[in-house]
Amino acid sequence: MLTRSRQDPTRFAQKLFQGLPQRYDLLAEALSFGQNRRWRRAMVDSVVDAGPTTVLDVATGTAGVAVQLARRTDAHVIGIDITEAMLHRGLAAVRREGLEERIALVSGQAEQLPFPDATFDALTFTYLLRYVADPAATLAELARVVRPGGAIASLEFHVPPRPLLRGAWWLYTRVGLPAFGVLAGREWYRVGRFLGPSITAHYDRYSDAWTIDAWQRAGISDIGIRLMSVGGGVVMWGRRTDG
Ligand SMILES: C[S@@+](CC[C@H](N)C(=O)[O-])C[C@H]1O[C@@H](n2cnc3c(N)ncnc32)[C@H](O)[C@@H]1O
Repeated sequence: MLTRSRQDPTRFAQKLFQGLPQRYDLLAEALSFGQNRRWRRAMVDSVVDAGPTTVLDVATGTAGVAVQLARRTDAHVIGIDITEAMLHRGLAAVRREGLEERIALVSGQAEQLPFPDATFDALTFTYLLRYVADPAATLAELARVVRPGGAIASLEFHVPPRPLLRGAWWLYTRVGLPAFGVLAGREWYRVGRFLGPSITAHYDRYSDAWTIDAWQRAGISDIGIRLMSVGGGVVMWGRRTDG
């Protein structure tokens, strides 16, 4: 049984994701009832508007966001992730799209990015902060590699704020997802059991107000936040503070 509390979070995430890539894209859409696609698009919108020429996509996984960034901007995109198996799948997607010249995928950790300060015009990160030990320090590291004025945007799951919808969400994440996992196989059963409690635990500890404050402390300004699909997802965006 995979339990997060006793493990280093990086190792935990690698174990969780190493068995998922093959059906990840299909199931991520199915299990979010097609909302993941909408949420990604909303996150990428805020970066497209900034017209970047270089973008870093952190926790890029199977490169879904990186591909969308390359399609919707003229930028060169680097996707970085700690799980090699996810990156391999991502590389196949990049080749299928004919985007090898525009997207590079590299192995590495969000907490220690292998890039100098102010390298990128823009940065995106998706479903990352629940997997790091210190979200505030990780945010500071993400902001470090963005040039002053550069766009930063994120996507994460969220707990619906309205009690009735929160009840339905709770049932779906605690009963529906594990039940689906029983059908989809051992790796997806793990994810099905892990995901709901992981989202709840994250927001018990880190409220939206805390997160906005952490973005500001990391050197990000002009911050916006938008709950998606009655609060099942959250998109945030901002700008690396000048100077
Ligand atoms: C739910 S997947 C999201 C993948 C992709 N962004 C998407 O939207 O489909 C989360 C990804 O975060 C990666 N990850 C987890 N912790 C990380 C860390 N500390 N640094 C870099 N990547 C990390 C995992 O390997 C996994 O590929």
